[in-house]
Amino acid sequence: MFMAPPLDGIPRDIAAVADYAAYARRRLDDNAWAYLDGAAGDELTRAWNRAAFDRRVLLPRVMADVVGGHCRTTLFGREYPCPILLAPVAWQKLFHPDGELAAAYTAAVLGVGMVLSTLASSSLEEVAAAAQQGGNGPRWFQLYLQPERALNEDLIRRAEAAGYEAIVFTVDAPLNGIRNREQRAGFQLPPGIEAVNLRRPQDPKDHQGFALRERSLAEKRKRRGPSNVFDDLMHCAPTWKDLDWLLAATRLPVIVKGILHPDDALRAVDMGAAGIVVSNHGGRTLDTLPASLDVLPAIADRLLGRVPILLDGGIQRGSDIFKAIALGASAVLIGRPYIHALAAAGPLGVAHVIRLLHDELEATMALCGVARLEQISTAYLYDNPTRRTEP
Ligand code: FNR
Ligand code: LAC
Repeated sequence: MFMAPPLDGIPRDIAAVADYAAYARRRLDDNAWAYLDGAAGDELTRAWNRAAFDRRVLLPRVMADVVGGHCRTTLFGREYPCPILLAPVAWQKLFHPDGELAAAYTAAVLGVGMVLSTLASSSLEEVAAAAQQGGNGPRWFQLYLQPERALNEDLIRRAEAAGYEAIVFTVDAPLNGIRNREQRAGFQLPPGIEAVNLRRPQDPKDHQGFALRERSLAEKRKRRGPSNVFDDLMHCAPTWKDLDWLLAATRLPVIVKGILHPDDALRAVDMGAAGIVVSNHGGRTLDTLPASLDVLPAIADRLLGRVPILLDGGIQRGSDIFKAIALGASAVLIGRPYIHALAAAGPLGVAHVIRLLHDELEATMALCGVARLEQISTAYLYDNPTRRTEP
């Protein structure tokens, strides 16, 4: 049952998700803002993610009987109030003192899924406790492969023990994108904000996770070549063999995040992935990748409904979610929008953003003549040459 949070305390000029960005900008310093809002290179992919939604036009059917409609959905055996999850976003204490704890609590109160980043600034156990407090909310754990197998195993065991229901394996960011905005701002993590889940007991001062990665890399560099990329960072990059290992290493469903090519989607599913996230990492890794929405139809055609397809990148409106579902997604993830709201208004802001998207999605469905998510199809897109089903 979707419970609408109270709206007291939300300024009246915040009527849409995008309105939170300006508030967040005012709350955050240049350092945090460059990290949060920036993307790779010229930030074209980030802009294209949005443009892909704006380009698509809805085609409603009138006088349909939609009484009793809803946007509930089932994913991996659990019912969700709406097809919206909170995407993994690292180091949320950069944006609000309660960081991931606030986001997880709020998501749980609403019954919405939260994906916790490997690079979270609170321990995955504390975040699980916050989700439990909010009503044992659904939580998934996002894994960035670490150089040592033992550390990956440890993270997976801890996530399983703390009640995380899926592992989201991010494969599109083995190295950080070339983020010029971060470079120009001289981005660095402030003292006290760390990837605490990567700390090792024997080394409580191993901050930020990356220090650990650096040390392991140093051990691995047997014959160092001249390239910082190929001879260094890519030693940590996940390969198909690692996916194989991960699938055997956990009893949880594994969802592969960061897929843009239909062949990669098929390969992951053939190997046993329970789902995929079509994503270009919000445009933060490699610039001039296609918009995630633009590659979705080809991936959906290849997978033929075998597993749920999730999508992220640029979602700001309920109508965006409708369009993603029309083109083959089962659900979407939002990244920057809920972090903007977290920075601007804490847990209430996060709840408000989810509610806005939920209500806008329902309004879009009702006005298009659709009562349930399963009925959404390309028949409701005006400009889609691949219109598949008639309602
Ligand atoms: C991310 N993203 C991300 N993804 C991931 O798998 N692990 C992570 O730790 C992070 N960290 C992260 C930090 C910040 C500040 C942002 C903005 C994004 C990517 C994220 O999960 C998602 O793919 C995009 O944010 C989706 O695009 P939108 O909704 O931000 O446009
Ligand atoms: C990012 C990494 C942490 O997008 O995924 O900043």
